[in-house]
Order: sequence, then structure tokens, then C-alpha cells
Amino acid sequence: MTRTLTDAAMAQVKALGHPVVTGGEEPPDRETLLRLAAGAEAVVCTLTERIDEEFLDAAGPGLKVVANVAVGYDNIDVEAATRRGVWVTNTPGVLDGATADLTMALILAASRRVLEGDRLLRERTPWVWGPRMLVGLDLSAGATLGVVGYGRIGRAVARRARAFDMKILATPTSRPDDRDEVEFAELPELLERSDVVTLHVPLTPDTRHLIDAGALRRMKSTAVLVNTARGGIVDESALIEALRTGEIASAGLDVFEGEPQVNPELLELDNLVLTPHIGSAGTATRERMCGLAVANAAAVLSGAAPLTPVK
Ligand code: GLV
Repeated sequence: MTRTLTDAAMAQVKALGHPVVTGGEEPPDRETLLRLAAGAEAVVCTLTERIDEEFLDAAGPGLKVVANVAVGYDNIDVEAATRRGVWVTNTPGVLDGATADLTMALILAASRRVLEGDRLLRERTPWVWGPRMLVGLDLSAGATLGVVGYGRIGRAVARRARAFDMKILATPTSRPDDRDEVEFAELPELLERSDVVTLHVPLTPDTRHLIDAGALRRMKSTAVLVNTARGGIVDESALIEALRTGEIASAGLDVFEGEPQVNPELLELDNLVLTPHIGSAGTATRERMCGLAVANAAAVLSGAAPLTPVK
């Protein structure tokens, strides 16, 4: 176990009766991580650990499963693990609601300038109610939400946005759901027509910098961009420029290209809301994520197939 998980998950691990080594509360440094891995049959890790050839070598030939405590698994070289016959598992389905909730929080905060208002008051700036004061985007005045990646989390965001009377546009999916009130459009059209664009695709070589300078140019100057997926999907330098020049109105980011480092230029922008990768950080959600990761490892150790393999 590369990190200490929730108390319930730690108890679940203990009850399995296998010898366990644990990295601790903070991510272990690389050297410690490789040392911890040596001889492991199962690894329960988080998105802060890079699981690559070097790690798999360090673990050795007894390794059977790498269980990620996350739905995204861009931290893991799945091909390399699969070549060695090592299962890779993630935690799909258990964090959709929590991630969609945080996405709505960022959409609302960025649209209605919540943190600008908060800062104004904390800085003791004199103010008085005014018809033009801190005016932002009205979600309920017919705004269109563009969902890039209409999978489990994208749909959960769309369900919430419908309650705000938003119209939903989404990038085409291979699993269309006819019951949904959604219109599908390719990314360029979605960017041009949406008032809010929210990203819910995994980070892969195909989606790296999907939102680049060209994509941002397509968006409305009144539009809001929200990213609760992975930092690498957005070209941060291009976003900084777009927010500075007013090419788009505002943004909300829960994830960053150089995580846990945050580009200091982002911190200077007033029209940006930032959270430190807390999309799934609900108490019940974290219990489910940790529990599912441990259950995946336990299943493989008992000779069964894991519950949620990545492929
Ligand atoms: C969190 O970012 C996750 O992928 O679960």
C-alpha cells in the first residue's frame, strides 16, 4: 500500500491477513516507493505514484495486481503491466456523484464570480449593491452546457445541470442514451455553442492538450471552462493567455498539468477558481474508492479475477 487509506479500508486490509507495508500519509519518494514494492504480490496505489517498467521491475515477478484508488489510471503503464500478466484495476462508478457535485461547484463559482465576491469582502473593500456589480453568467437563462466526454461522470454533471435549466450538448458517445435530453455535437461545434464547457475525458495521448489555443479561440468570450478530469487535457499556458485577454470569461480548475505544482501565473488570475484535486473527496465516496481498490487486490490474491479491471 503506497499510502494510508481510510480507517475502514485499512481494517479491511488487516482482516485479509496478508503481510502489509504502507507508505504513509504522504506520497513516498521514488526510492522509498521502489523499496516498498520489492516482492509485493499486490500493490494498492494512488494517482500520485507512477507505475512504470521501473516500478514493475522493482516489484518483481510475484506481482499479480496493481489496484489504483482512482478511476483515472494515466499514472499506470497498463501495457507494461499487461505484458507481465499483472492486472490493473481502477475505481469506476463509485465517484461519479462526488465529482459531478464538485464540477457544479466550480461551474457555479466561476459563472457567478463567487470567489471574487469573497475576496472583495475579505479585503475590506468598500461596496454597495449595484446593478452592474459582479455580474456573471446566468446558468438558468437558457445557458448551454457542453460536456466533453459523455461517460458516467459527464452524464452525472448533465443531470445536475438540467436541474439548473441548462441545455446539454455533448461530444458523441458510443453509448448513446435515448432517455437523456441531450444533443450531440463534435468538439469544434460544441466549443462554439456552449456557455459552459466541462471536461470529462480520460488523459491519453489523444486527449493531451485537447483544449489548446485553437480550442479556446472557438469558445465564446462569455464562456466558462471547467476541468475536473486531468490537468494535461488543457494547455495551461494557452488557458492563462485566454483568461488574461478575455478570450473566455472565466474558468474553474481542480486539476493541473504539473500537479501538485500549480503554475504561479494561474494564481494571479481573478477570473479563475482553483481547488486542489478534490473531485472525489467526499467522505462516503472515499470509503467506496478505497474499499473497491482493496477488494480488487483481495480478489486477485485469492485467485479470482478483480472486480473492476481496466481492460
Ligand atoms: C481522481 O482523480 C480519480 O481519477 O479518481
